[in-house]
Amino acid sequence: MLKDFIADPLKLNKDLEGISLKSVTEHQKLYEGYVKKTNEIQKKIQEADKSEANAVYSYIGELKREETFAVNGMKLHEAYFPLLGGDGIPKGKIFEMIQKDFGSYDMWKEDFIATGMSARGWAILAYDWKDHGLHNYGMDSQNVGAVWNATPLLAMDMYEHAFFMDHGTNKKTYVESFFKTLNWEFVNEILERVISSQ
Ligand SMILES: [Fe+2]
Repeated sequence: MLKDFIADPLKLNKDLEGISLKSVTEHQKLYEGYVKKTNEIQKKIQEADKSEANAVYSYIGELKREETFAVNGMKLHEAYFPLLGGDGIPKGKIFEMIQKDFGSYDMWKEDFIATGMSARGWAILAYDWKDHGLHNYGMDSQNVGAVWNATPLLAMDMYEHAFFMDHGTNKKTYVESFFKTLNWEFVNEILERVISSQ
């Protein structure tokens, strides 16, 4: 089992500018669902009849397909929630690396926002182990578009559930609110873990 408990990635106790506590509290219920389903699916995989495996339809095949959705849903929300509640000021090693790898912070931000505005699932700033550099990757679903051998440092949820309650269909104002409250200290923490593990 990847997880046998519900993590508490949410430390918020008040509304943020443009992202309400109610919205985040509801959002966290979806996260808890991903954790529960991860555990349920992985238990069922252990017990499933492997001999009936078939790519058109099989019970084990469906379990394996939905396992990637649940596991990524769990992991990406664990990367997302701690990003809420910061001062929005980019700083530290990640700020330096962004400038080096993208030319400037503004160039990175323009690309990252475009990634988010055109994604149906997630915009991810990732550390890619292939070139040891930063990349903005877009995902259309929790299990569609993930790039292997890359570690998410900053995950922006672009599913409707992340912004509909506070922003209706206006993705742009949600993205602006996300950046205003972005906790860059947490991004630096993850980067530090990545760099120190090399
Ligand atoms: Fe979400």
